[in-house]
Amino acid sequence: MVAPENLDLVVQVRVLTGQFYMSNFRSIILAAGRGTRMKSEVPKVLHKVCGKPVIDYVVGITKALRSLKTYLVVGHGSQKVRDAVGDGVQYVLQDRLLGTADAVKRCAGHLKGYRGTVLVLCGDTPVLSKDIVASLLKQHIRSKASATVLTASVDNPHGYGRIVRSAQGHIMAIREQKDASDTEVKIKEINVGVYCFDAKEIFGILKKVKLNSGKKEFYLTDAVELLLAQGRKVATYTTRDGAAGLGVNTREDLAQAQLIIRRRILSKHMLSGVTVIDPLTTFIEDGVKIGRDTVIHPMTMIHSDVRIGKNCSIGPMARLRPGTRISDGAEIGNFTEVSRSTIGRGVFQKHFSFIGDATVGQGANIGAGVVTANFDGVNKNKTFIGPRSFIGSDAILVAPNKIGAGAMVGAGSVVAKGKNIPAGMLAVGVPARVLRKIDKGKK
Ligand code: UD1
Ligand code: MG
Repeated sequence: MVAPENLDLVVQVRVLTGQFYMSNFRSIILAAGRGTRMKSEVPKVLHKVCGKPVIDYVVGITKALRSLKTYLVVGHGSQKVRDAVGDGVQYVLQDRLLGTADAVKRCAGHLKGYRGTVLVLCGDTPVLSKDIVASLLKQHIRSKASATVLTASVDNPHGYGRIVRSAQGHIMAIREQKDASDTEVKIKEINVGVYCFDAKEIFGILKKVKLNSGKKEFYLTDAVELLLAQGRKVATYTTRDGAAGLGVNTREDLAQAQLIIRRRILSKHMLSGVTVIDPLTTFIEDGVKIGRDTVIHPMTMIHSDVRIGKNCSIGPMARLRPGTRISDGAEIGNFTEVSRSTIGRGVFQKHFSFIGDATVGQGANIGAGVVTANFDGVNKNKTFIGPRSFIGSDAILVAPNKIGAGAMVGAGSVVAKGKNIPAGMLAVGVPARVLRKIDKGKK
């Protein structure tokens, strides 16, 4: 083992805390490809799965495993990918898309002198889990192999590189679908597209990879055969979770990834105490928090960046959009949409209404068909609905405006833009006028 005094400070800390084997690696994520099979103007890795770009799932793995550095190889639509991913990775440009081997090669200059493990991932595998990659890394570092390939057995290997093994079971090559013989094409063990390499070995061997005459690309997968030919040790780590290897190459793959990750998200919420009446028709994106004993009714869509408290009832057929905060005990019923709004404790908003850019105080009642008209054609404006207020059916509140605590807006009224209804007062009409103070107990 390397003497601790020769390592940089971060690594020294990890040696001392026993995390060395897991964390002393750098990552390369390949995301420069055109994604031709998606038939899209949007770079493949920016297509969303459960509200999050495909690439974010892969970058998330390297972050969770505390990769010392992550290089993201970009090419097609590079600026869009940079804008979406932001800081936290180092971008490497592949200006000509010459294949996966060439993409890795582009990082050679950045890793000059680095003598550790290089983890290579494809940017189009959102279903992959950090636990699988952690096991791959652990095995690679322990076995001292020059390369370790992550493999999976799948029912339908179509389109993936096949793992060709010797009679003794040792990996001999990775054969791409197009180049596979009739026997090889039947192999069900696939290359997931995730590898660990010894840094020095990989950049040396990549110089020897030849252009694939069929696809006119340099294949990273050819590095396996070349390493073996030089007498280097190449190992495999096989995950039992075949679905984890799904690469998103087509819209069908995208839908498949969505199904798997959606199910995962729903399970996480159910295991933490949320009732999901019908998982088959409930869509909850990544990045949602829901409190215990909240019930999510069928055909409900909850987008990213939504927080829901305890003991709430959501749906059926509700849509909660990003920036929404629902406090404990609130009821959001059928055909309701809430966007960028905070809903107070115990609010009733039970039938077909739209609340956008609003704050609704605790105990308020939002009648059937209420609309906050938040967009004036230029700006989004805010609405404040006070605690314990009562907004009658079909009322329209043209933002910006403010409804005071305990105030009441009559059914069918239109509260004009900029109008405030004082606390405890009743307003009715089109446009709504303040009529009188509300008698307690009388409505
Ligand atoms: C690749 C593997 C295949 C494996 C599969 C797993 C090769 C030759 N084949 O095939 O064995 O089973 O992944 O999903 O590696 N990219 C670049 N620059 C390029 C070309 C590709 O950065 O010049 C990126 C792509 O953006 C993508 C990744 O590399 O994220 C893989 O490329 P893709 O075209 O999807 O390869 P597959 O055909 O899926
Ligand atoms: Mg792919």
